[in-house]
Amino acid sequence: LYHDLEKWDKEYVWHPFTQMKAYRESKPLIIDRGEGSYLFDVEGKRYLDGYASLWVNVHGHNDKELNKALHEQVEKIAHSTLLGSANVPSILLAKKLAEITPGHLSKVFYSDTGAASVEIALKIAYQYWKNIDSEKYSQKNKFISLNEAYHGDTVGAVSVGGIDLFHRIFEPLLFERIPMPSPYTYRMTEYGDAEAVKKYCLDELEKLLKERADEVAGLIIEPLVQGAAGMITQPFGFLKEVEKLCRKYHVLLICDEVAVGWGRTGSLFACEQEDVVPDIMCVGKGITGGYMPLAATITHDQIFNAFLGEPDEHKTFYHGHTYTGNQLVCAVALKNIELIEKRELIKDIAKKSKHLEEKLNILYELPVVGDIRQRGLMVGIEIVKDRTSKETFTTKENIVPDIIQTARQNGLIIRELGPVITMMPILSMTETELDQMVEIVYRSIQTVTTSLSLPR
Ligand code: LLP
Repeated sequence: LYHDLEKWDKEYVWHPFTQMKAYRESKPLIIDRGEGSYLFDVEGKRYLDGYASLWVNVHGHNDKELNKALHEQVEKIAHSTLLGSANVPSILLAKKLAEITPGHLSKVFYSDTGAASVEIALKIAYQYWKNIDSEKYSQKNKFISLNEAYHGDTVGAVSVGGIDLFHRIFEPLLFERIPMPSPYTYRMTEYGDAEAVKKYCLDELEKLLKERADEVAGLIIEPLVQGAAGMITQPFGFLKEVEKLCRKYHVLLICDEVAVGWGRTGSLFACEQEDVVPDIMCVGKGITGGYMPLAATITHDQIFNAFLGEPDEHKTFYHGHTYTGNQLVCAVALKNIELIEKRELIKDIAKKSKHLEEKLNILYELPVVGDIRQRGLMVGIEIVKDRTSKETFTTKENIVPDIIQTARQNGLIIRELGPVITMMPILSMTETELDQMVEIVYRSIQTVTTSLSLPR
């Protein structure tokens, strides 16, 4: 069976973010089933899911209670439209989201991928200013985002993105963004320590806002950690200062919690750690516990009310996806949130991330480990040739992809982002499983790099 599946996979499936030439020359990993923290391939080999199946899995695979919620819903109805009508799970989930999100966030607009939730946030922010006073705010058409930002792969989300490797080719298709520096402290030591880097970035932001706030509809940011950029962790207090500047210069604050939400960084939502309440918040990924595609864009009354009017005023938000508010997806999301509460997952994550932090330190024994960045259960390990120059290996040398492959042979699924090994364990993993993950990473780095002659 494996050989047929391998052949058909290579013949018919175009994999995302994947160089298909290399993929077709490799032995593909074909997953058959999952159980708790583990994935099993079609040949029965077991792997620890250190990537939480692209950062989404919360309670583990094949969770009996999530399965039950899904079964119960499918026996009633799978899908009816939210365009002009309602359904039970989407109402209950929206109410729950309003209760658990920060501040007065209370109006929920559903979609089905993180990128769509970002598109929606940008369009809402833009139209908000037009709806309240289209003449006065005719210039407020632009967005500020961070260098190295990643908000998804649709054209609007790419427009506010700042990862050159992914985004450069699409440049002519994009709308203009206003970039601000990202506090990448490991690579900005010429500015000084983390506090100095933070101050530099915030001063640059304030300069931009002083000059151009009347052109800016909103600022979009991944709170606490820029994930796809390679787990760039922000200095403490950075997000709070960004919020203050947005308020001071009348720019809407959009927090993209798609990656960092649902407990990943140690609190239910990352922005809570700095007591920040965005005007618009995007959530996705872990919202369904890693079961189904759902995202949401959540805002407060002041923005929502600006869209109320008579039909001929055209204040309506003309946006909607076919599967918006799908019953199956909302039912499983609701159960996921109930389980996060019932199983006291957030408290557990705080404890486990402390444990993980101590464990990760042993990686510094390996000379290629330049920097270890961690917030909660979100980890990036930057691999360098030389700790002093911080020079990275070239794409041709292929060291980091080799480490990832070796880890896979050793029974751990993780991925890399450029020179950074990233670990995004399932949130319910035990301390023992987290230890195993670190041990496999240690061994895999060692296997790939001991034969290299490196400066010490
Ligand atoms: N916003 C943030 C902060 C994200 O991290 C993501 C996806 C999105 C939005 C878009 O959500 P989506 O449309 O995918 O549901 N390409 C990398 C990992 C990117 C992680 C996905 N983040 C890799 O190759 O591993």
